[in-house]
Amino acid sequence: MSETAKIIINGKEYELPVITGSEGEQAIDIAQLRALTGVITLDNGFTSTGSCQSAITFLDGEKGILRYRGYRIEELCQKSSFLEVAYLLIHGELPNAAQEAEWEHHITHHSMIKEDIKRYWDAWPQTAHPMALLSSVTSALSTFYEDSHNVYDPRQVEISIHRLIAKMPTVAAYAYKKSQGQPYMYPINRYNYIERFLYMMFALPVEEYKMNPVLVKALNQILILHADHEQNCSTSTVRLVGSSHANLFASIAAGVTALWGPLHGGANQAVLEMLDKIHADGGNVDKWVAKAKDKDDNFKLMGFGHRVYKNFDPRALILKETADEVLATLGVVDPRLEIARKLEEIALSDPYFIERKLYPNVDFYSGIIYKAMGFPTKMFTVLFALGRLPGWIAQWKEMIESKETKIGRPRQIYTGATERPWVPVNKR
Ligand code: SDX
Repeated sequence: MSETAKIIINGKEYELPVITGSEGEQAIDIAQLRALTGVITLDNGFTSTGSCQSAITFLDGEKGILRYRGYRIEELCQKSSFLEVAYLLIHGELPNAAQEAEWEHHITHHSMIKEDIKRYWDAWPQTAHPMALLSSVTSALSTFYEDSHNVYDPRQVEISIHRLIAKMPTVAAYAYKKSQGQPYMYPINRYNYIERFLYMMFALPVEEYKMNPVLVKALNQILILHADHEQNCSTSTVRLVGSSHANLFASIAAGVTALWGPLHGGANQAVLEMLDKIHADGGNVDKWVAKAKDKDDNFKLMGFGHRVYKNFDPRALILKETADEVLATLGVVDPRLEIARKLEEIALSDPYFIERKLYPNVDFYSGIIYKAMGFPTKMFTVLFALGRLPGWIAQWKEMIESKETKIGRPRQIYTGATERPWVPVNKR
């Protein structure tokens, strides 16, 4: 017998269906609520509202669980390559050897971008934020592939997926090279996906590039940890834009733009800027924690808190260990890491943070690792986007293929002026 929920509105009782997911989560299906009652629900920030049913990622905020297609991230980031996890998220299963070889072949052979696209960078100032470049060029890429915009043609969707996953690292690296005034480096096919990106980022045409296996391993793990996170702000944006049948490039460009915000993916850049500020202020951690707690001060401890994780972000736990390993292996001593540790220590014992369940999130340690690896702060959110790309694509594909999908169009409660007559300017 399926569950139902009873609701009484204006003295009348209604019964609504309740659906239960594969992990026991339950939702009241309110699709017919307005038709039945004339009333809608209201949920600022969608704190208790589900937008879809999805089989891609499961996370449990209370228990700190995160799984992609049923596999624990702790296992995936130790045993899989990022490209293998991208295949898993998008196709639903880990690839066998033949599928993996074909997938890698396609991604490798689509990694170059048309020479004309480079002219975009000529028009931008050298100080342009790389996220502005990434979102603009991602959308502009679609103009070179007008043959693959049909969202209902599996072949066109498949080649768009290959192009996006293959070209995003190239676009990201070119954005960095532009900021450095250095020549662009062409992708090298003999490298794997992570190596190829590091080469395009840090190689110079005047000397042999020495690949550092520590950086390759760390970046592979970090991108896996960022690969998907169910219906976060940027993923919900990709789904909403895609629900209008905008092509995949346009939908992903919208996701890049949403991710840029400092409350979302931009937090990793904001964490480093915050640590720099505290460091410049003599490392006075107590002063800045007090500012974060002060209602009249809009300073927040960037990298702390999460809408869903109310105990700990499992990704932050893994990244905390990775930060130790990477900095030790690279022989980097970063005073900001000590400040980060002090902040975490205080936050984990201070009632303000405990009551509000504010724990370090995925952005808290990633910036310190990126810095040690040689990435400039402005590139941190670009790295988040590279990691989240397969998740955005998987969620967009699931949305487009679902028979339940309708164009996203929320309702509202109007609170403005009631009807009034127009007044001539000399009477206002
Ligand atoms: C990501 O959704 C996802 O899955 C996102 C993500 C992903 O993988 O896609 O996990 C990636 O975006 C991680 C979050 C990165 N953002 C930050 O680190 C920015 C700092 N954090 C906050 O802005 C905040 O915690 C959010 C945005 C992450 C969550 O905000 P919520 O759930 O809307 O919580 P809230 O703003 O209502 O805060 C609840 C209380 C408030 O205090 P009271 O009004 O109840 O007294 O906690 C306080 C807030 O003022 N608070 C903080 C705080 N975060 C919340 N106080 C100080 N420092 C903070 N960081």
